[in-house]
Amino acid sequence: MSVLFVFSLFLLLNVPNSCIAQKNYSSFVLIQQWPKGFCRMIGGFCTMKPNKFTIYGLWPLRPNGRPIKYCNTDSNLSEDDIKPLEKQLSSNWPSLGGLDFAVWYGQWKVHGTCSENEFTKLEYFQLALDNYAQNDLRDILKKANIVPDEQKHYNRSSVVAAVHQHTQHDPQLVCYFDSVRNVSVLYQIAICYADDGKSYKNCVSDFIGNCSGTQLLIDPK
Ligand SMILES: *[C@@H]1O[C@H](CO)[C@@H](O)[C@H](O)[C@H]1NC(C)=O
Ligand SMILES: *[C@@H]1O[C@H](CO)[C@@H](O)[C@H](O)[C@H]1NC(C)=O
Ligand SMILES: *[C@@H]1O[C@H](CO)[C@@H](O)[C@H](O)[C@H]1NC(C)=O
Ligand SMILES: *[C@@H]1O[C@H](CO)[C@@H](O)[C@H](O)[C@H]1NC(C)=O
Ligand SMILES: *[C@@H]1O[C@H](CO)[C@@H](O)[C@H](O)[C@H]1NC(C)=O
Repeated sequence: MSVLFVFSLFLLLNVPNSCIAQKNYSSFVLIQQWPKGFCRMIGGFCTMKPNKFTIYGLWPLRPNGRPIKYCNTDSNLSEDDIKPLEKQLSSNWPSLGGLDFAVWYGQWKVHGTCSENEFTKLEYFQLALDNYAQNDLRDILKKANIVPDEQKHYNRSSVVAAVHQHTQHDPQLVCYFDSVRNVSVLYQIAICYADDGKSYKNCVSDFIGNCSGTQLLIDPK
């Protein structure tokens, strides 16, 4: 046993459990959605369909890849908490079909509260916007000649490779199966991060969905 190890053990044994600021998540995922695909999947109830990927959520994940949820029900988001970011959030994290703030409020409650010891409300929303800004998925796919087109099917592996080219890590793809068109339709892409929320990491779990089939379509409208 190394001296350092013994020393660490000593420290652990002597600090009361309640004083260890326990982090219950080991990674983050930033999920972006393609509004045209997402809205078609849910049956069309959207009032807006921006022609770009938008933020769906930034979620702290457990080591098994599942989201950790509702860590502090007393922590309520107010509009004032995120006032400085409101314009950017409305543009990049819109509700698509309802009140933007309702989406942010819900995402904070369910997910943001789980990393609140490390990221304040403002920091959490800023982190989502920063990571989003570094990954313009429409542009990233376009560089690999992957564009929304009713007539084109893309290999799942080609879509993964296009994102990998940008982040050097594997994303997670989320699709719905359209039985009428007989094809898997891509509507979300998830990019994973270490627990610092900033360094890329391979996405390892398929908890948020999966794309069955090897050929994918991206809805053009
Ligand atoms: C982590 O989970 C434990 C057990 O559920 C809980 O007591 C603790 O408060 C949580 N820590 C944080 C930082 O949320
Ligand atoms: C947060 O909202 C809940 C329910 O709306 C309420 O019960 C709670 O008191 C609020 N917490 C604070 C700190 O305002
Ligand atoms: C797509 O996948 C098929 C079968 O796996 C392969 O033959 C083809 O070369 C791939 N196309 C591209 C563009 O990667
Ligand atoms: C659906 O697509 C699969 C794979 O491309 C193909 O093998 C199958 O024949 C198609 N089914 C119909 C009913 O067109
Ligand atoms: C998710 O999809 C990939 C590729 O089609 C497949 O290898 C994997 O087994 C799937 N996972 C589940 C749980 O269906």
